[in-house]
Amino acid sequence: MNILLTGAAGQLGTELLPLLSARGRVTATDRSPPATAVKSWLELDISDGGKLELLLNSVRPGLIVNAAAYTAVDQAETDVRTAYGVNAEFPGRLAHWAKQNDARLVHFSTDYVFDGTASHPYLETDEPDPQNVYGQSKLEGERAIESSGCRHATLRTSWVYSSHGKNFVLSMLELARRGIALKVVDDQQGCPTWARNLALASDKVIEQWQTPGADHRSGLFHYCDDRTLSWYDFAHAVFSYAVKTGLLNCEPDLAAVPSSGFPQPAPRPKWSVLDTRRIETAFDIHPASFNRSLKTVIDEVSTRA
Ligand SMILES: NC(=O)c1ccc[n+]([C@@H]2O[C@H](COP(=O)([O-])OP(=O)(O)OC[C@H]3O[C@@H](n4cnc5c(N)ncnc54)[C@H](OP(=O)(O)O)[C@@H]3O)[C@@H](O)[C@H]2O)c1
Repeated sequence: MNILLTGAAGQLGTELLPLLSARGRVTATDRSPPATAVKSWLELDISDGGKLELLLNSVRPGLIVNAAAYTAVDQAETDVRTAYGVNAEFPGRLAHWAKQNDARLVHFSTDYVFDGTASHPYLETDEPDPQNVYGQSKLEGERAIESSGCRHATLRTSWVYSSHGKNFVLSMLELARRGIALKVVDDQQGCPTWARNLALASDKVIEQWQTPGADHRSGLFHYCDDRTLSWYDFAHAVFSYAVKTGLLNCEPDLAAVPSSGFPQPAPRPKWSVLDTRRIETAFDIHPASFNRSLKTVIDEVSTRA
């Protein structure tokens, strides 16, 4: 099977690449492929619609995995056009091609499609009401895929981190190494999700799609790891593991603050917890352990340090 992976150099794309390579011939694309990239990597700027059609018609993927996204949440507030181009129009074009060519599409979306006022974990059937441009553009992308009628799995997830790329864990570690006293918000709750667990969940969906005679489910699914934490709790967990492994000598000065004490251009939902029962029932995919995942990520960072 030919597979097209977009955003292959991002947090999730990096974890997906080895898994997908075991399932078929992968063409990996990103805006700037890594210097070590081999010849099956291609440079693709998502805003170039014409080039996308050419690429799809030449690769002819039976499976498209779209890990590319505009993830700079605050920047999206002023770079609205680019955010919509990458997060809404591009997935729509992929889905249209997939529908026309009987290909399948795996796509990713976000907890930020919700307003964060619920008091229960969000179900796929709960009404979205995104409060920032990033969330609005991702919701448009979900809807474009849904309305194309292509066979797809859109996995909504939350608070993605890994031992590479730009994320909360690496930012916290960097600030702690510089000896900076930290203030972290404690009134936003969510489920930190290791990019590798999300990649493994995607791979399990694909595996079941490839199984002859299996019930090939399509649609919107929530996946996140198994703990609900505030950003403050998350930072505390990062520092505590980092000290245990010797990555940090001691925990930094860490203070809990309300969101009002840490103004950001894009408002964030206060409650970002996703209910994962649909993916558990449909694909037997269960939330992975936050504790084990964070520990592995810190170990990976320590090994490289
Ligand atoms: N990160 C989170 O906390 C989070 C939370 C919920 C949902 N998600 C969703 O999970 C998925 C994976 O996120 P991630 O954390 O892996 O994101 P990421 O690390 O930011 O990776 C996204 C990739 O897309 C590429 N990209 C962006 N604009 C592009 C363009 N115009 N042309 C070509 N490539 C472009 C990025 O390249 P550059 O690095 O050059 O920009 C990057 O390699 C996304 O759908 C995201 O919306 C993420």
